[in-house]
Amino acid sequence: MNKSLRRAVIAGNWKMNNTRPAATTLIGELLSLVSGAGCDVIACVPFTALESALAATGGSNLKIGAQNCHWAASGAFTGEISAPMLAELGIGHVIIGHSERRQYFGETDQTVNTRLRAALDAGLTAILCVGETLDQREQNITEEICALQTKVALAGVSEHELKRIIIAYEPVWAIGTGKTATAQQAGEACGFIRSVVAGLYSQTTADTLTIQYGGSMNAGNAAELLAMPDIDGGLIGGASLKAADFAAIVKAASL
Ligand code: 13P
Repeated sequence: MNKSLRRAVIAGNWKMNNTRPAATTLIGELLSLVSGAGCDVIACVPFTALESALAATGGSNLKIGAQNCHWAASGAFTGEISAPMLAELGIGHVIIGHSERRQYFGETDQTVNTRLRAALDAGLTAILCVGETLDQREQNITEEICALQTKVALAGVSEHELKRIIIAYEPVWAIGTGKTATAQQAGEACGFIRSVVAGLYSQTTADTLTIQYGGSMNAGNAAELLAMPDIDGGLIGGASLKAADFAAIVKAASL
C-alpha cells in the first residue's frame, strides 16, 4: 500500500442541478478557491452545462466532466449522449455506473461495462462507481457485490487502459442520506476493491489506481476519510454544490 504512488482526485457530481447561469456562477466562485489545490479537481456537471462550464474554466486547474455516456458512438438511442460527443466538446472525464443510474434507469453491471468501454475508446477517463445497498451490507455481502461490480465493469479493459480509470466506492446507503460510512468501513471497502484489481491485473497496477470514497462526504468528515491509506479522494454530491464546502474538501485532500 503506497499512497504516494497515487494522485488524490476530488470530483464533484452535481447530479441534476444547476442551469447554465447557475453553473457559471458556481464555477466562478470555485476557481480562486481551488486554484492552489494539491490534488486533481473535477466538476461533473449536467450535459446542458458542459459547454459553459468548459468556457468558464479555460486554462484553470478545474476540470469538467460528464455524468454518463452511452455505449454506442452514435445511432438510434433517443435522449442519450455518446462518448465521442463528449470528447469532441473537450470533456476529459465521465462518471460511469453511478448507483442512481443503476437504481432509476435500469443500468446493469453489463451496461456499465459497455459504457465504460465506450468512454475508454473515446479517450475519456472514467470514474467507475461501485458500492453495495444497505440490504447487501446487512447481509454481509459488501465484498461480493463490490468484487462482482468491479470485475464485470472491467471486463475487456487492459492494464494500460486502467490508467484512465478512477474507481469510486459509493455505498448506496450513504448517498444523500447524511449517513457517511465510517472511515474504517470506507477504508476497508476501498482496500478490498484495490485487492480485487490486484487480482485482475497486478499489485503494481492496483497500487497506482486512484480509489475515491463517495457518500455524504463533506467539509467536516473529509479529512478523516482521506487519511485512510486506501482512500485517494472523493466523489462529492450535495457538498459539491456549495463552493466553500467543496473547496474545504479539496483543501483536505491537498495536505
Ligand atoms: P452525496 O455526497 O450527496 O451523498 O452524493 C454522493 C454521490 O452520489 C456522488 O456521486
